[in-house]
Amino acid sequence: MRTLTVIRAAASSTPSDALVYFIPEDPQARDRLAKELVRLYRIPPTPVGQASFRGTEGEILLLFPAHPKIRRIILAGVGRIETVSAETFRRASSSAARLARSSQARTLVIAEPDATLLNGSTLHGTADPWETFAFAVAEGVLLGTYRYEKYISTRKTPEGDLRSLVALTQSASRKVSMTRGFSTARIVCEGTTLARDLANAPGNEIYPSTLAAHARRLARKAGFSVRIMNERDIRRLNMGGLLAVSQGSARPPRFIVLEHNRQAGRKGRIALVGKGVTFDSGGISIKPSAGMAEMKMDMAGAAAVLATVYTAARLKIPVHLIGLIPATENLPGGKALKPGDIVRHLTGLTSEVDNTDAEGRLILADALGYGTRYKPDLMIDLATLTGACVVALGHEATGMMGNCPSFMSRLQESGETTYERVWPLPLFKEYERLIKSDIADLKNVGGRWAGAITAAVFLKKFVGDTSWIHLDIAGPAIMEEPFEYIPKGASGVGVRVLIDFLRNWKKG
Ligand code: BES
Ligand code: MN
Ligand code: ZN
Repeated sequence: MRTLTVIRAAASSTPSDALVYFIPEDPQARDRLAKELVRLYRIPPTPVGQASFRGTEGEILLLFPAHPKIRRIILAGVGRIETVSAETFRRASSSAARLARSSQARTLVIAEPDATLLNGSTLHGTADPWETFAFAVAEGVLLGTYRYEKYISTRKTPEGDLRSLVALTQSASRKVSMTRGFSTARIVCEGTTLARDLANAPGNEIYPSTLAAHARRLARKAGFSVRIMNERDIRRLNMGGLLAVSQGSARPPRFIVLEHNRQAGRKGRIALVGKGVTFDSGGISIKPSAGMAEMKMDMAGAAAVLATVYTAARLKIPVHLIGLIPATENLPGGKALKPGDIVRHLTGLTSEVDNTDAEGRLILADALGYGTRYKPDLMIDLATLTGACVVALGHEATGMMGNCPSFMSRLQESGETTYERVWPLPLFKEYERLIKSDIADLKNVGGRWAGAITAAVFLKKFVGDTSWIHLDIAGPAIMEEPFEYIPKGASGVGVRVLIDFLRNWKKG
């Protein structure tokens, strides 16, 4: 999408490739709109006036009006007014944008919704309902039309591309609000699509050194600082977990340190840690081949952290933000880590490796230990850590565990707002015995039960008394099927929820 603009004009006088009306499931609103459509565009009343278009959520209809300036009209149902939320507009806009694109439209124009729609909806409670509305519409359009097509040399579908999104309004103050919504949403969605691009990229394109090169490139673009540690530096830091996981691979590891706004520490300092396993074969405890290709996305946490720092820098969010990415492959080479090996982490704790496929926690342990040195107000890690978390929550929610209930409930709140939902799982101390080892401080697997939790209990041993939240994104990060505005493959999950959380950050 090249341009997002808000124009003060009436729908009927604006040339439109595809004009979108959001229609609630409300007889009065529907009748009003039906009359207007007949008056302006001579669309017979049957589609909207009768039972054939009811305005239920998810309903969508493409019409070709007899009008010199308006080529297509899209009716997008949003359901009952009281239940309309930002998520409703994301989904409806995504469907509308895709329908417009598949019918060769280049420009998507959003007709100003009736004020009764926003006023009666849940957007009414937000700081600026019109900004919220525009933000959600832009999210739906930008995220819903995303495609990963870098390696597609001949596109099979004859679809074109949507080039611009235009919102119409009659009011000057709404124009200001909506313009603000559009410009913030654009930056945030570019963060999400960046994370998608990085995670969708194949393992022969993204590996530790190329991931580090992306970090450098983005740092230069947005003006944050970056430091890349190579294998020697990693050894000097005593990051035994990261070294151990990387030793089966011909490609050396990297430890990537990002920093935005170092001088803003007194307004709050937050460290983000992202699991950067650029391919997880399982190592010697090798995975079955079916579905192994998905494990090129085992750096989705790293992608989210990199994209979040990039986005925070572009939005100039006034907190000191640190991004830490342990990056490695997990391969079963001749020098690979073996079951039974014991590694010593940066903090001095040792772990017995019972399964080389539980590699994420081994590298995160070092990164979390490193993160505590910054004395952050809060540390959040994002990791495609366990299949068990996918079993527990599916692709619809991120598992959240941690030691700081009030930060956790604020993050959960941001999860609801952005619909990148996070859901708490407990860290009862009784789980700790499951990762006890006879010959080391810890064991890297906890047995059959509570796999998402025992992984988090392992991580907890490395954060000391730092406030910490662990997000197991294994489910939502990797989509087996498209869902609404999330395509199949990498979802870019994490960026929107974290940015919302950081924008609402208040120390204390
Ligand atoms: N990267 C995987 C977890 C994963 C699985 C992410 C499916 C996304 C989708 C992780 O490194 C892993 O292999 N975990 C093991 C842990 C087990 C050996 C204790 C798992 O979940 O099976
Ligand atoms: Mn693994
Ligand atoms: Zn993994």
